[in-house]
Amino acid sequence: MTKNPFGVNLTLLPALVPPDYHGYAKVIIDEGISIVETAGNSPGPVIKQLKAANCIILHKCTTIRHAHSAIKLGVDFLSIDGFECAGHVGESDITNFILLSRARQSLGVPFIASGGFADGQGLAAALSLGAEGINMGTRFMCTIEAPIHQKVKEAIVEAQETDTELVLRRWKNTSRLFANKVAKEAVKVERESTSGKFEDVAPYVSGKRGREVFINGDVDFGVWTAGQVIGLIHDIPSCKDLVERIEREAEKTIGKASSLIVGRAQDGREPAPGEVGQNMNSPGAEIWGIGKTKL
Ligand SMILES: Cc1cc2nc3c(=O)[nH]c(=O)nc-3n(C[C@H](O)[C@H](O)[C@H](O)COP(=O)(O)O)c2cc1C
Repeated sequence: MTKNPFGVNLTLLPALVPPDYHGYAKVIIDEGISIVETAGNSPGPVIKQLKAANCIILHKCTTIRHAHSAIKLGVDFLSIDGFECAGHVGESDITNFILLSRARQSLGVPFIASGGFADGQGLAAALSLGAEGINMGTRFMCTIEAPIHQKVKEAIVEAQETDTELVLRRWKNTSRLFANKVAKEAVKVERESTSGKFEDVAPYVSGKRGREVFINGDVDFGVWTAGQVIGLIHDIPSCKDLVERIEREAEKTIGKASSLIVGRAQDGREPAPGEVGQNMNSPGAEIWGIGKTKL
C-alpha cells in the first residue's frame, strides 16, 4: 500500500481467552515494522520483546502512573490519552487539560496528545501544554479515505459532543462508544443487572457486530467507538485537506496567541510593575502583557 514508513498498534486488553500477544509481536518484528504503538493492560513483557528487537515504542496510556511504568520499561515516547478519547478511556477520568500538563511536569520523555483533537486550535493547545504533536482517531474516521461506510461518517458529522456513552465501567474496562441504540441498551443492562455478570451485557458489546456497522452502514447494528470530539467534526474531507487545514489553523492560532505578547520585543526587558507600554501588534492595547483589548 505504501513505500513510506508506518507503525502498528498492539492493544493488550482483558479477554476471556487472551490472544497470543507474543505471537503478534513476533509477526511485527519478523515483518520489519520498526515503530509500534502499544496500549492496554500489562504491556511489560511485550514491550521488552519489541525493545529487544530495536523497535521504537510509543506507549499509549490514560494515567501518569502508567506512563511512568512504561518509561521504566524503556518505551521511547508516550501518547497521553485524555478521558475525552474514543475507546478505552481508563478508570481515572482525567481530561487532557490536566493530563497533558501533568505529563509535561513529570514525565521527562517526549509525548504526544491523544483524545479530543480535530483541528488546528486543538493542535496549538496541545503544543502549548507541552506535547510534541497530536494523535487523532475519530477525526480520521470521518475522512474520504477511511475504509468505513459513508453512513457512519454522516452519523459522526450529525452528532454532538454529548452523543457518546461509557460502557463496561462496572468491569473496569470502560470504553467510550457512539451513543446509538445498542450502546444505550448496554448501559441500561449494565446498570440494572442484578447478577453483575459480564455475560449479561456481552451480547450488546460484541466487537463482531460493531465491525459489521462499518461495512453495512447500519449505525445501530452494533456498538462502535467514537470520542467526544464528534461534536467538533462537521465535514468529510480528504486526509490531505484535513491535515493541511489543521496546519493552517494551528499557525494562525499560534500567531494570534503570540500577538498578545506586547511591549517586550523592542528591548527584551520585562516591564516594571504598573508600567504602561506600547503594543506593536495591537495599537489599541495599552496595558503591558494583557492583550489586544484596550482596558
Ligand atoms: C474506530 C476506532 C477504533 C480504535 N481502535 C483502537 C485500538 O484497537 N487500539 C487502541 O489502542 N486504540 C484504538 N482506538 C483509539 C485511538 O487510537 C485513539 O487513542 C483515540 O481515538 C483518540 O481519541 P479521539 O478519537 O478523540 O481522537 C480506536 C479509535 C477509534 C475511533
